Amino acid sequence: MKHLFPADFAWGVATSAYQIEGATQVDGRGPSIWDTFSHTAGKTDGGDTGDIACEHYQRYREDIALMREMGVTDYRFSCAWPRVQPTGSGAWNEKGWDFYARVLDALDEAGIAAHATLYHWDLPQPLEDAGGWRNRATCALFAEYAAEFARRFGSRVKTIATHNEPWCTATLGHETGQFAPGLRDRAAAFLVSHHLLLSHGMALQAMRAAGCKAQLGIVLNQSPAYPANPDSEADRRAARLADGLSTRWYMDPLFRGAYPADVVAHLGSDAPQVEQGDMAIIGQPMDFLGLNYYMRSYCSGEGRVQPPGERGFTDMGWEVYPEGLTEHLVRLARGYNPPPIYITENGAATPDTLEGDAVHDADRVNYLRWHLEAAAAALQQGVDLRGYFAWSLLDNFEWDSGYAKRFGLIYVDYATQRRVLKDSAHWYRGYITAQRAAT
Ligand code: NOJ
Repeated sequence: MKHLFPADFAWGVATSAYQIEGATQVDGRGPSIWDTFSHTAGKTDGGDTGDIACEHYQRYREDIALMREMGVTDYRFSCAWPRVQPTGSGAWNEKGWDFYARVLDALDEAGIAAHATLYHWDLPQPLEDAGGWRNRATCALFAEYAAEFARRFGSRVKTIATHNEPWCTATLGHETGQFAPGLRDRAAAFLVSHHLLLSHGMALQAMRAAGCKAQLGIVLNQSPAYPANPDSEADRRAARLADGLSTRWYMDPLFRGAYPADVVAHLGSDAPQVEQGDMAIIGQPMDFLGLNYYMRSYCSGEGRVQPPGERGFTDMGWEVYPEGLTEHLVRLARGYNPPPIYITENGAATPDTLEGDAVHDADRVNYLRWHLEAAAAALQQGVDLRGYFAWSLLDNFEWDSGYAKRFGLIYVDYATQRRVLKDSAHWYRGYITAQRAAT
């Protein structure tokens, strides 16, 4: 096979705590905003909740054995803040920390490197009751939690990401209301985005002060924005704004010390108040940047338009557009001089069904193959790409879509909690083996 990836490339799968763990009331875990939100009528498809999910809290050994069987070298997971600090401030919950210690032990035994995310959307409910991410005080509490994680596990994980997809927390959580806590207030959403970035910088400072040895960074979801008609001035303007609201709103403060002026002007009085010194905190140097890539955004001055979808659409209705991954990586590398990049998520939901002991998810295999080729193309163009994590290890709780959308390379039969490797899991194993042999 052709040599496409460097020898030390991280071949991974990713998950997050609320989506897989279940056990929401076990061993002292406190409630989070996603418990509250998913238990509120009408917020998730079918009223699904993460109460049981994949029972990973009990089945983590089996799940790590499956990772090993798939041949992955790296695993990205998140720590549930309300498990290790039930109210988001004050006493630590040792039973919660013990769970992650056991996960890290099992990963060690399996020879799989660990990548932790500190915040994958499960804010302790008591903090939300005090204003959540709208309250600047949450930033300092997050930094304390980060420092404690770093003290305990900083030498046992390869990377620590502060936030996962802050755009989702800010915009989907506070502007559209699609995600917890379910607010619909644009000014609140942008204040939240500022506090998330600030808390990221404060957490980096706190983890470094604690002597943390892991590589530190953040995970951003980004979609390159294309005008539907490149000849239309209105479409080009719409694409520029979409890029500003997603990519530049986060990349510019992290790497250029300021929010993008065109977006600030667009927001008017909804733009957040930035206190003196905030930008220097946000701009702390990072050891890596995580990119979650699923699709492009296709923009028109007329509002929503359907992209062409030459390679189809996933079960989420998202256009399959692997070229966007190459183009976006190259643009980030040239435009921002970022630290080494990991693709921390990439994957597809497909309408999988169990046929005996098999799941024939040919569309997912194509999706993964095309995006890995796109990643290899970016490497060839000089992007310092260190790894790729398929989303996700297992079918799991897909937030407001509940269990109806399946992203796993492993099928979960929720009635029995049986796991079945899909064709894509076997394919990924073969791909990893061939690439590692070729290097
Ligand atoms: C990004 C999020 O980080 C993850 O939680 C989610 O399941 C996937 N995208 C798929 O939507």
